[in-house]
Amino acid sequence: SQRVGYVGWRGMVGSVLMQRMQQEGDFTRIEPTFFSTSNSGGAAPSFAEGDAGALQDAYDLDALAALPIVVTAQGGDYTAAVHPQLRARGWDGLWIDAASTLRMNDDSIIVLDPVNREVIDAGLASGVKDFIGGNCTVSCMLMGLGGLFRNGLIEWATSMTYQAASGGGAKHMRELLNQFGAIHGAVAENLSDPASAILDIDREVLASQQSVDASQFGVTLAGSLIPWIDADLGNGQSKEEWKNDAETNKILGLSGNDRVLMDGLCVRIGAMRTHSQALTIKLREDISVAEIERLLAADNEWATVVPNTKDASMKALTPVATSGTLNIPVGRIRQLEMGTRYISAFTVGDQLLWGAAEPLRRMVNIAIG
Ligand code: HSE
Repeated sequence: SQRVGYVGWRGMVGSVLMQRMQQEGDFTRIEPTFFSTSNSGGAAPSFAEGDAGALQDAYDLDALAALPIVVTAQGGDYTAAVHPQLRARGWDGLWIDAASTLRMNDDSIIVLDPVNREVIDAGLASGVKDFIGGNCTVSCMLMGLGGLFRNGLIEWATSMTYQAASGGGAKHMRELLNQFGAIHGAVAENLSDPASAILDIDREVLASQQSVDASQFGVTLAGSLIPWIDADLGNGQSKEEWKNDAETNKILGLSGNDRVLMDGLCVRIGAMRTHSQALTIKLREDISVAEIERLLAADNEWATVVPNTKDASMKALTPVATSGTLNIPVGRIRQLEMGTRYISAFTVGDQLLWGAAEPLRRMVNIAIG
């Protein structure tokens, strides 16, 4: 079995990664070394048979450099602190990372193997050593719409997102739930009285929304939305929105005239861990909706076409229907009034699975063969 170091296995993305590795029996092929930034010397977790030994210090460069592969979901600050030092001392192992820090470097590859296995294989063959997970919305979009992107059928697309609280982190998810709870608490008595006036309840809800704790998100999310995610780039675009075009093209390995133009607005909503996005797609040629659906469904085993009916969309095309699964439903596919080459689509994906942990888990398996 292959030795692999894991950093940040205890956090939200790391925990999902560990769950998936257990489900898939990865630990029968991998001999893990677990690192900690705060508890080195403590007992390592026992995800596999046998004695897991002690946690190693995540800042111990000798311990990291002794391994052929290091996987981290510890976050961007850790990557920035440790990765350059490891490389500077000549470590040529594989660094597999959930953080965005190294994502756009010329010598890194963004991993999403059902979509870009050729790019990954070519990178491994040519000596690329840094394999980085993509932005969650970009990865989920490409998993759902791979059949169009990979066949070069898209000229441009807008992606308008509906992003879950988990994208902010575990504390953000807790804050959202505390907000829902506080708001409900503020009106519970009135609400239980069917004769109470709804506008009184609404007024109390608003007062509560204006006073609940919002220290993580900055403003109230429960019963509202936040039309800005991540840094302000100063050109009117958020960093989350910028990633859409930059990462999509890098994942697909497109440059020059082959590039797909991507842009849109990224919005936080009160879902827990599953992102959704509405796309307007400009096709490069006329293709029937039936052919589009066929291409999407055939592209990979996780993309599932949802028929464009009210019933199917409500049942299968929601965060609640998708959370906790690897399924990427894609629906609402129809020709828009703007013309035959203008298509709408709506896709949903668990941002902790395909959006974060799963591409990293699969990359380790590709690397160890
Ligand atoms: N930036 C994403 C979000 C999560 O805030 O939803 C990670 O890709």
